[in-house]
Amino acid sequence: MDMEKLVSLCKRRGFLFQSSEIYGGLNGFWDYGPLGVELKRNVKEAWWRDMVTGHDELAAPAGAPRAYQMVGLDSTIIMHPQVWKCSGHYDLFHDFMVDCRESKKRYRHDQVRGRWVSAKGQRIFVTSQSGGEEGLAETQQKALKFFNLRAKDIAQLAWEGDLLNLTQVDDFSQVLGPDAKSPGTLTPPREFNLMFKTYVGALSGEEGAAFLRPETAQGIFVNFKNVCDSSRVSVPFGIAQVGKSFRNEITPRNFTFRSREFEQMEIEFFCHPPQSPDWYRYWRDRRYRWYTELGLAGERLRLRDHEQEELSHYSCGTADIEYAFPFLPPGEFGELEGIAHRGDFDLRSHMEGKLVRQGNELVVEKDAEGKPRHRGSGKELSYFDDETRERFVPHVIEPSAGADRATLAFLCEAYHEDMVPDENGKPRERTLLKLHPRLAPIKVAVFPLVKKDGMPEVAQKIYRALKPHVTVFYDEKGAVGRRYARQDEVGTPFCITVDGQTLGDGTVTIRDRDTLKQWRVKAEDCVSEIKGKLIV
Ligand code: GAP
Repeated sequence: MDMEKLVSLCKRRGFLFQSSEIYGGLNGFWDYGPLGVELKRNVKEAWWRDMVTGHDELAAPAGAPRAYQMVGLDSTIIMHPQVWKCSGHYDLFHDFMVDCRESKKRYRHDQVRGRWVSAKGQRIFVTSQSGGEEGLAETQQKALKFFNLRAKDIAQLAWEGDLLNLTQVDDFSQVLGPDAKSPGTLTPPREFNLMFKTYVGALSGEEGAAFLRPETAQGIFVNFKNVCDSSRVSVPFGIAQVGKSFRNEITPRNFTFRSREFEQMEIEFFCHPPQSPDWYRYWRDRRYRWYTELGLAGERLRLRDHEQEELSHYSCGTADIEYAFPFLPPGEFGELEGIAHRGDFDLRSHMEGKLVRQGNELVVEKDAEGKPRHRGSGKELSYFDDETRERFVPHVIEPSAGADRATLAFLCEAYHEDMVPDENGKPRERTLLKLHPRLAPIKVAVFPLVKKDGMPEVAQKIYRALKPHVTVFYDEKGAVGRRYARQDEVGTPFCITVDGQTLGDGTVTIRDRDTLKQWRVKAEDCVSEIKGKLIV
């Protein structure tokens, strides 16, 4: 699939726009247009319905150790700064960046790749921000340019091995930066905290400093006690939250995949420590199934368990659900969601203070004077189990998904081109989005075949009957073939057409986007027919 075609469709049909575009845009920020907002809302609503409101808490779902409860939360984007100190984000949430003194550009240290090459008695490390074939081609072009060689002189370039990561290079003096003309312009890697800083109230100094949340999860942990005290929940149970998160990514890229403002859909699932490995496996498999049920399947979607050495110090298991986005080099996958076993790390940190590992233990980190480096809330965040009469700090399983990445993956998977017969039976190329009906921004479009003979009146009556139930679009402009094409391109699963026969027998045609099958139903049965088709 050609990513440029999808990007162009998204702009042309109002799915996605660059933020502040009339002022030249702002890198890493995206606006959802009229159809994009419907699509993303449908993704978030499908998640909320399937994980929270639609969850049957009376019976254990397939694969779950037992029945469990799910509740929701909507916490603030700006929280007490101590939250981020105890969560570890203040000290540890950073990437390493390198700056280019020549181009004034900034790169993530681990995202610059390159190859050693020699020619005309000089050896340089020529870099690119791409991997795979694209990275190889880019480095080749740059090397030719640097050594002032023509394509026919390519044999003069002596390459050493394959693409390496800049993290594998110690001395930058021979490194030709991705946008530089001469080597040695990259600075040594420096830490860069990804949290956006702001100031609360009139205080502009450190006293008023606060952060935009880089994840929604911490809002859930700090409300654990409130939820337990105010709702009739008992462990095991989950708290779900959907909302904006902000990360000052050094190199935002790949459309909405890596943005600076994005939305997360997170669950913190609190369970008894001995059962936590079973709950971890349950959530990993349940979340993977969610994507397949909504149309991401086959080789482009995979569930990848982290290797032991990749795990955070407090975790006994983490898996990523990944998708082979078309902008990635062949064989590479991008993360859609992480499912992590977080132990009791977060609740204990907010109780006792920021924790660090000491041997096999998690202990409060101390400063040079032996005081806690970041003091916790001191509030009791353990749980008393009425049945077993035990008090313990629950373990947590965290399925953490990105709403924008999921939306992008659904769009990529849905994009298709095929050949269909036009009104005269001649083949014509069409572009369609094969979106799952639950996700499609418009569920049904209603057309009068022509703008006369009472057809618009019948079509408008059907439109108004459907309106309270589904997102419906009315269109009477242009040839009907063009109207079908416009709906196919935005993923509308069904089109209803009022034609000459309607005026005789009261039936209309319904057309299926994917199969192009058409069938007739009574005009007054359209609502039940469409509702029946949408419950899938
Ligand atoms: N609470 C755990 C957490 O935030 P994460 O892996 O950093 O974990 C979870 O983020 C998900 O949020 C990712 O799998 C991804 O879908 C989404 N996400 C993270 N950073 C993002 C970014 N810069 N742009 C878009 N989505 C992002």
